[in-house]
Amino acid sequence: MYLLSIETSCDETAISIVKISGDFPEARYKILGNALFSQIDIHKEFGGVFPALAKREHITTILPMLRQALEESGLPTKDITLDDEEIAQIQTLLNREPGLADELVTFHTTVGKPEIDAIAVTCGPGLEPALWVGINFAKALAQLWNIPVVAVNHMEGHILASIFSENKLEKVIFPALALLVSGGHTEIILMSDWGTYEKVGQTRDDAVGEAFDKVARLVGLPYPGGPAIGKLAAEARIANLPPYAKLPHPMLLSDNLDFSFSGLKTAVLYAIDGKTLSENEKKALARDFEDAAITVLLQKSIKAIQKYSAKSFILGGGVSANTQLRQAISGLAKYQAFPELQVYLPELDLATDNSIMIALAGHAHLGSALSPTDFANNIRANGNQSL
Ligand code: KG4
Ligand code: ZN
Repeated sequence: MYLLSIETSCDETAISIVKISGDFPEARYKILGNALFSQIDIHKEFGGVFPALAKREHITTILPMLRQALEESGLPTKDITLDDEEIAQIQTLLNREPGLADELVTFHTTVGKPEIDAIAVTCGPGLEPALWVGINFAKALAQLWNIPVVAVNHMEGHILASIFSENKLEKVIFPALALLVSGGHTEIILMSDWGTYEKVGQTRDDAVGEAFDKVARLVGLPYPGGPAIGKLAAEARIANLPPYAKLPHPMLLSDNLDFSFSGLKTAVLYAIDGKTLSENEKKALARDFEDAAITVLLQKSIKAIQKYSAKSFILGGGVSANTQLRQAISGLAKYQAFPELQVYLPELDLATDNSIMIALAGHAHLGSALSPTDFANNIRANGNQSL
């Protein structure tokens, strides 16, 4: 089957076309088209993602992404003619996305209907104005192509992306734990089987990615802060710079699997204390922050593995692109005395938001795909959707 997947939950507009042979989780996945536009340069100026701006950019980019993914896929298309009633339906479904309905209708009269069997789209969690663009676009495509749509949870996508390797999902041994670290989430998920999720730990305030982004801003680095902090911290390690500040390890010793990162960010603010830092001071502080954040993530992971006798450990979400965190988590089996533990890290291009992960999660739930009408009538964006 051919699945089209759509991701617009934050600042990436992404559409993929994946050929799937077999049933979840044993299937083979062949990525035929993978189009992704990152809005980073647009949001950089403001130091973070503005939902209304993200929405506007998704509206202008989503059709070019569809066109690109389709072209890459080489899938044949059939000519279609749309009657006035169908055009009116598309206009209604996309009435919050100015201009998009007209563009989509023109696109279809020139390109036609591709051989796609189903659509998967992120419905939450994320920024609601951004999510709606992907959802409404999916509603319109489903209507035009008369195919079912499956609603996807973005965080489940991150989990599956991390265990996706060589075009298949690895055979995970349960119970598994997933540490999900992104711009909006820091949580530990217990998986007793495929699709069975229990949140056993979470942040009580900021997500760790958010802390990276805020600390980056404090030291004058551009958005997104994660990669920028990681780069400075690496330079501090190479130069063996002395510590700039002694930072706290929030909730390290607490008797649970929860996190807190807002105090760590505030400690960085106090350490800077209004001063203009030298380049070396910035590097040292970036390293001090990264060390503190990763120490807490690692120790809570160890605690969770012990508590649940986990057999597998999955790291997912944008912060899993961080080199130090990847090293710490990779070392769980060898250095933290869990010799039997299977550890899964995402390939770097699947660590941050993408639509391949949405195709994987969509395939997992294909059985609950909705007809175009049911999807259009019942599905809403849910910014806080949990697993
Ligand atoms: O999963 P993601 O792409 O989007 C959300 O779902 O939020 O995660 C984005 C977050 C941002 O906070 C970004 O700074 C962080 O992931 N990030 C990193 C790295 N690359 C992205 N954090 C640390 N090190 C990185 N290399
Ligand atoms: Zn994400």
